[in-house]
Amino acid sequence: MKRFVYYQPQSLKEAFELMEKHKGGARYVAGGTDVMTRVKQKVWQPEALISLRWIKELSGISQEGQFLRIGGMTLWREIEMDPLVLKHAPALADAASMVANPQIRNVATVGGNLCNAAPSADGAPPLMVLEATLVIAGPEGEREVAISDFFEGPGRHCMASDEILTAILIPEMPVNTGMAFLKSGRVTQDIAVSSAAVCIQMADGVCKKCHVSAGAVGPVPLRLKRVETMAEGRKLTPELLQQIQDEAAAEVTPITDVRSTESYRRTVTGVMVKRALEQAMRQAEEPSASRDSVVSGDESGKSAPAEPSTGPYDTAFRKLIRFNLNGESVEAEVMSHKMLSHVLRKTFEFSGTKEGCGQGECGACTVLVDGESVNSCLYPAFETDGKTVTTIEGLVKEGNQLDPLQESFIENGGVQCGFCTPGMIMSAKALLKRNAHPTEEEIRKGISGNLCRCTGYVQIVESIKKASEVLAANEVKS
Ligand SMILES: Cc1cc2nc3c(=O)[nH]c(=O)nc-3n(C[C@H](O)[C@H](O)[C@H](O)COP(=O)(O)OP(=O)(O)OC[C@H]3O[C@@H](n4cnc5c(N)ncnc54)[C@H](O)[C@@H]3O)c2cc1C
Ligand code: FES
Ligand code: FES
Repeated sequence: MKRFVYYQPQSLKEAFELMEKHKGGARYVAGGTDVMTRVKQKVWQPEALISLRWIKELSGISQEGQFLRIGGMTLWREIEMDPLVLKHAPALADAASMVANPQIRNVATVGGNLCNAAPSADGAPPLMVLEATLVIAGPEGEREVAISDFFEGPGRHCMASDEILTAILIPEMPVNTGMAFLKSGRVTQDIAVSSAAVCIQMADGVCKKCHVSAGAVGPVPLRLKRVETMAEGRKLTPELLQQIQDEAAAEVTPITDVRSTESYRRTVTGVMVKRALEQAMRQAEEPSASRDSVVSGDESGKSAPAEPSTGPYDTAFRKLIRFNLNGESVEAEVMSHKMLSHVLRKTFEFSGTKEGCGQGECGACTVLVDGESVNSCLYPAFETDGKTVTTIEGLVKEGNQLDPLQESFIENGGVQCGFCTPGMIMSAKALLKRNAHPTEEEIRKGISGNLCRCTGYVQIVESIKKASEVLAANEVKS
């Protein structure tokens, strides 16, 4: 990987000045799940990365008058669980829950998703049907852009390279509104082969307003205007829904690529638009159906970043970072282009953390940062400053006593070659912290960002289930 400098500005003004200083050689980075993979693949070779993580005004979800305001740096994990989003924009919460896997959702942002401008971006279709407005700031001031005017082509949007997406404004929806988001991919954590979002208003069984959007089936996320016209002012009977399915398949403009064929994409989009309409119709007709129960655990989901420490080495190339590693305060002088996995393995010689793909795909490098699972291969070492990091070594208690999860993996055949095991156990640790009694489905979702080439997952799921039972029994005893 080519070296780059890494800045951590704490205000928009500082970020714009740094961008100006590098005159086209710099790029903003949010969670880095797209940026770091492309830098590692040498698709992008910036001389500088400007982190947006420390600009506090870019994060958070709030109600502002008639709008739900979501900061551009808000994490998918926060959006997935936020009560305001669940209430006012459940289709966006659904999309958030389907982005990649827990490790990616714990660092990736909604702003990064939109600014990446991939036609498959999961955030786009729900925000299109909600007719969101994007707030964009630049050195010359602030402007607002309707999301329908934002995307210009694959990987292209209407922002200049020095502008920052600061917030997304979602207008409040009237009662009798229903919405849904559906996604079809090759495997759980894959990007969409096709996705569909709808938002409808119903009155006396008639569809008064209908917004339909589809992703990954055109050069940009699409609004399906012909389908919308067919639905508006009419009862959504089974016959009409069938016609809408056919029209949706005809209206999209997909291509054949490695993920799917053009014809499959058309067919599946038609089916998903119909199913999303059926789901949204049910929701519109039962407005009391609360989704708050989806929120699990005691986490507020809000991140409260500590200040990055300053010191004699605090430059954009090299920095002294101080953090808590497995219960001990440590410090290390790290280079700007090094990832946390490298620092753990090479500086601290904690080789339990493995590096497989190096691209956020396999989960072998999973560790906990401030209690949340992350792929350490994509996590810039600079961003570890002031945080708490737990690796597989940190689970072992005094007297070499293994964690119940480690013991359960050994006893229940969850380990074969063992390469995936540390990452798998760290994901399971994060899951059990959030949800002490997971179902099999929840366990499978919790480890969806971890690949195992040996065990076939059955024993791994069993190991996690048994560990949760042991932990529950220990709790009762104590
Ligand atoms: C294994 C894996 C699986 C994935 N699966 C999915 C998936 O299922 N669905 C999906 O939609 N995506 C998926 N992605 C893509 C990616 O994770 C998401 O698009 C994510 O939301 C990007 O957010 P980020 O904060 O990491 O963006 P970054 O990587 O930090 O940034 C992405 C781009 O946006 C720019 N940028 C970021 N924030 C701003 C801002 N506020 N203002 C201006 N420019 C900005 C950056 O300069 C960069 O060009 C996946 C990625 C990986 C590695
Ligand atoms: S996800 Fe980090 S090494 Fe594969
Ligand atoms: S035990 Fe070998 S990869 Fe999972």
